[in-house]
Amino acid sequence: MGHVLALAMQKGGVGKTTTTLSLGAVLAERGRRVLLIDLDPQANLTQGLSVDPSGLEYSVYEVLLNPEKGTAFATLATSAGVDLIPSSLDLAGAELELAGKVGRELLLRKALREARQSYDYILVDPPPSLGIFSLNALAACDTVLVPMQLHAYALKAMPQLEQTIALVREIHPTLAIGGIVCTLADRRTNLSGQIEQQVRDAYGDLVFETVIPMNVKLAEAPTAGLPIGRYAPQSAGALAYAALATELEVRYGR
Ligand SMILES: Nc1ncnc2c1ncn2[C@@H]1O[C@H](COP(=O)(O)OP(=O)(O)O)[C@@H](O)[C@H]1O
Ligand SMILES: [Mg+2]
Repeated sequence: MGHVLALAMQKGGVGKTTTTLSLGAVLAERGRRVLLIDLDPQANLTQGLSVDPSGLEYSVYEVLLNPEKGTAFATLATSAGVDLIPSSLDLAGAELELAGKVGRELLLRKALREARQSYDYILVDPPPSLGIFSLNALAACDTVLVPMQLHAYALKAMPQLEQTIALVREIHPTLAIGGIVCTLADRRTNLSGQIEQQVRDAYGDLVFETVIPMNVKLAEAPTAGLPIGRYAPQSAGALAYAALATELEVRYGR
């Protein structure tokens, strides 16, 4: 039975999509069966995997609308070795339509029932805002992986996330934060190191040893449509995500 992880943090630009894609691709390269789900109407994950979100027959939207159909019909194989349930630009209007559905927070969870048997890891990439898509991501997952951008206000966002998780626990009682990944560390400043220490003091073992550095290759890779491990295999970004994948494999035993 696969482990479902959702990346979360109610904010854009912290490295959710980069982490989903980079980690997913490394795990796939190591032979794990990986499914990535793009729940963001901006479709960054979809585009970063060289899939055009405008010409798709099915997207995650049809999955949410018809959860009893499972996910296979909307799943694409990608050249990065991961499977993808893409986002589409229609997703932006879907929120209203889904708002009227019974059990609307549990649609993705229901849809993934069978896929869980077919994958080792399912990683869900949510949008930056708290809404029906983010709630579906949290309600569908076993654990939440939090990317924490190492800047001055890093820890300020945590109470809001914890509150959201507490809310989702009403429908999914075992939901918990499974790990915190420090991202966008700037080695040229002391500030990054100080914030990292604060995060470690506050969250202890929840914080992965690996820190993802700021690395321009990570920003360039999606424009080439390649995961970092193929775009720049020896870059600091690629090495960091490879190390993070190893920590994840140790934690989840696969
Ligand atoms: N470690 C990093 N080093 C350099 N650029 C990064 C790094 N992580 C993410 N980026 C870039 O920062 C921007 C935001 O990252 P992204 O993963 O899209 O965040 P989110 O999904 O949380 O909005 C993107 O342009 C991405 O390419
Ligand atoms: Mg994103």
